[in-house]
Amino acid sequence: MISERKFAASMYDCWLKYVLCDDKVFDGYKDYFKYIVVKSSDRIINNAVEELKKALSSIVEEAEVLDYMPKSNCIFIGTLDDFKAEGLKVDLERKLKSEGFALNVVKKDNHNVLSIIGGSEKGVLYGVFHIIRSIFSGKSLEDALCIDNPQNDFRILNHWDNMDGNIERGYAGKSIFFKDNRIVDDLSRIKDYARLLASIAVNGVVINNVNVHEQETKLITDEFLPDVARIADVFRGYGIKTYLSINFASPVEIGGLSTADPLNDEVKKWWKDVASKIYSYIPDFGGFLVKADSEFRPGPFTYGRNHADGANMLAEALKPYGGIVIWRTFVYNCMVDWRDRSTDRAKAAYDNFKPLDGKFMDNVVLQVKNGPMDFQIREPITPLFGAMEKTNVFMEFQITQEYTGQQKHLCYLVPLWKEALDFDTFAKGEGSFVKKVVNGSLFGSEHGGIVGVANIGDSASWTGHPLAQSNLYGFGRLAWNPDFSSREIAEEWVRLTFGCDEDVLNTVVPMLLESREIYEEYTSPLGIGWMVNPGHHYGPNIDGYEYSHWGTYHYADFKGIGVDRTVETGTGYTAQYKEPVAKMYENIDTCPDEFLLFFHHVPYSHKLKSGKTVIQHIYDTHFEGVERAEKMREAWIKLKGKIDDETYKAVLERFDIQVVDAKEWRDVVNTYFYRKTGIKDEHGRKIYE
Ligand code: GCU
Repeated sequence: MISERKFAASMYDCWLKYVLCDDKVFDGYKDYFKYIVVKSSDRIINNAVEELKKALSSIVEEAEVLDYMPKSNCIFIGTLDDFKAEGLKVDLERKLKSEGFALNVVKKDNHNVLSIIGGSEKGVLYGVFHIIRSIFSGKSLEDALCIDNPQNDFRILNHWDNMDGNIERGYAGKSIFFKDNRIVDDLSRIKDYARLLASIAVNGVVINNVNVHEQETKLITDEFLPDVARIADVFRGYGIKTYLSINFASPVEIGGLSTADPLNDEVKKWWKDVASKIYSYIPDFGGFLVKADSEFRPGPFTYGRNHADGANMLAEALKPYGGIVIWRTFVYNCMVDWRDRSTDRAKAAYDNFKPLDGKFMDNVVLQVKNGPMDFQIREPITPLFGAMEKTNVFMEFQITQEYTGQQKHLCYLVPLWKEALDFDTFAKGEGSFVKKVVNGSLFGSEHGGIVGVANIGDSASWTGHPLAQSNLYGFGRLAWNPDFSSREIAEEWVRLTFGCDEDVLNTVVPMLLESREIYEEYTSPLGIGWMVNPGHHYGPNIDGYEYSHWGTYHYADFKGIGVDRTVETGTGYTAQYKEPVAKMYENIDTCPDEFLLFFHHVPYSHKLKSGKTVIQHIYDTHFEGVERAEKMREAWIKLKGKIDDETYKAVLERFDIQVVDAKEWRDVVNTYFYRKTGIKDEHGRKIYE
């Protein structure tokens, strides 16, 4: 039976393939799956039961759903209240958060009841997905028993989708929400998406791009709200709240007002009316996401107001309904003069927001990108994370691979995200990890959470590159629990996606784990970033952003390279960190090599901790990166026959592209630096004169 179903599911199913890989493991569960007892008629719980039935349909005879306890072993699914109403006892009151769940076996009369108990209906849903995940990743029932709570209350995806159907920085087809400037009629794909997201416990989606153009500005009007409400309804069934990105200038652009000044009474009233209207359509609407005064988007600066004025005005409008304002800190001057070496884009978020700490209402959250620049393959943590003691802060990661290979290259991003979350800010002494800042525990914030810019579209595999599904999966798992290791997540994902074949596991897991480093090797070295073609950001162009107004420079000349961000001789950026972090980066001897060029301008002959010079490191990593990319491709080819054909081919196509493009990167970068410096490769490999 197992082999028949081996490849029945397609890449569309992602990690919800429901192919059993180990019969023996399932034996431990089997006893309970004749009857599913559910007392509640709640929609989320019903969806959870449907999912369980679907998952089990291939491995047991159809389970019977009962609304009473049978005189036999069974599985019981419900909230803590449902459970207690049944006269079952378990000590969970103080242990279970609202979205948490417990899986355990209790006795009822002479029978065993495998219970999935949620702190709420959402908790039940996550508990059901937990047991499904356990079964299909080959975990024994004993190992699956647990009490588990999310470490972050908000786990949200941002979709940079435009209503014309295009996705900004999307590499996996068109929008699943919008087409031809309208919301799609057929919501079946959105339902499938909701299932996928619920299975990784994502509980919020922003459906439109942070850059809100003319058409999307109207999403908050009667013209589109009925359709937004249809989408919200699908997501609601899976415990997911819907949010919208809004245009700060809406009162002027669609409201007929002459100003969008956040302190103007008419403007305030206008937004209050908008909020009331939205909630009349979508009673559990999540709130607004706002990109303001950034990259030509309107904001409070136009009226001489600050970000707190802008955010609080919106927060007041949403407050009566329990909505939040998510205000992005990606604010910087994108019209700088490259000749001016004193300005430093990396400093912008801190400079703009630190003075406002404590000035935001409690239903405002600042959404901060992990790095101070813009989702590069290697960046230090944004110093704002240790600096906002009186403000709610969310982490923003980019799942879509804008600067990390655009879903043509394999780049498993979980290690990058973990580095960010595990970073110690020292804001309240040792152990002040970023993950504690963003979950709200370090500073006792009202709201905590992790946000990802989604990497999906209407492509057959959702993510273009089938292996990029691991990033979506990893995002959800990490947002639930940042303490999972990159390897644990990778293994779980491989098992659920490809089954438990040891060769597949032993090939794909290491591949995922080293893919980020490989990509880094043949692209931009030592934390310097960019060196990409302007606009679309793919492919090597060392000086692509060097003489532009975007503030993203490497300052390479014939003697050296890097940005001096020290206090002593540079832009002073290092001072934004707390000690001892500031000192570590300030001092060239303690600054980690991988960030050397982010913090220091050094001669090419500078010796790294590895003993290599900077120039030799550049050559070596670029040659090595290509070789390792080639090896990944070869390893993949060996899996032919062990992976379904559709996925096998789609991945191979991308490895083909990756290898060719990695060579282009290698040759352009090496040639550029050879020509700049005249320094030869110690190993005499091919570099173009
Ligand atoms: C990057 C990206 C833009 C995006 C912006 C943002 O600059 O290239 O497409 O709009 O980030 O995060 O707002």
